[in-house]
Amino acid sequence: MIQLLFASANAHKLSEINAVIPEWINIISMKDFGIHVELPETGHTIEENAIQKARAFYKLCGQDCFSEDSGLEVTALNDEPGVDTAMYAGPQRDAGDNMDLLLKNLDGKSNRDAQFRTVIALIFKGELQLFEGVVRGQIAFQKSGNTGFGYDPLFIPEGHDQTFAQLSESVKTSMSHRTNAVKKMLDYLNHYR
Ligand code: IMP
Repeated sequence: MIQLLFASANAHKLSEINAVIPEWINIISMKDFGIHVELPETGHTIEENAIQKARAFYKLCGQDCFSEDSGLEVTALNDEPGVDTAMYAGPQRDAGDNMDLLLKNLDGKSNRDAQFRTVIALIFKGELQLFEGVVRGQIAFQKSGNTGFGYDPLFIPEGHDQTFAQLSESVKTSMSHRTNAVKKMLDYLNHYR
């Protein structure tokens, strides 16, 4: 059994990740490990933030662990908000405000192409490994649905005509950026079972 600590306090992320984790891996959340800290996220890229969080957490726990950082990259906005996705509309990190600003900035633009991108930074046996996952889609013209979190009410994944917030959790989990990154991490860890 491989035991990994997850450097996040986000319950949505944890449950999405746990849904695809096989029985030979045990994920322990930051909360269950008894660490309650805000990890630094001052990098200029999604990769830098993932690495920063994983290294900071590894210093605290000293065990195999991973972090993830995600962002929404919108083609017509030069891949913004990207690393600023969580605080797009300001430090209050409000999902409603963020989505309103995104709709405003896309007003009048016909190209609605976007992708969610996740980078996982794993520190395993003292070594850093990165895994990337992407899901492509479109930004809707209005918010729809109420499951999930963040920008889910605006993101219509490729091959669907409903937003992540309208689709069931299991459909989202089957194709999400986070799941795709986790699957790559599992391929890597499979060599150490
Ligand atoms: P972080 O990885 O916690 O820094 O997330 C960055 C931002 O991306 C946050 O504002 C999240 O709401 C948003 N985000 C990350 N993953 C998802 C997702 O699966 N659905 C919707 N929004 C997401």
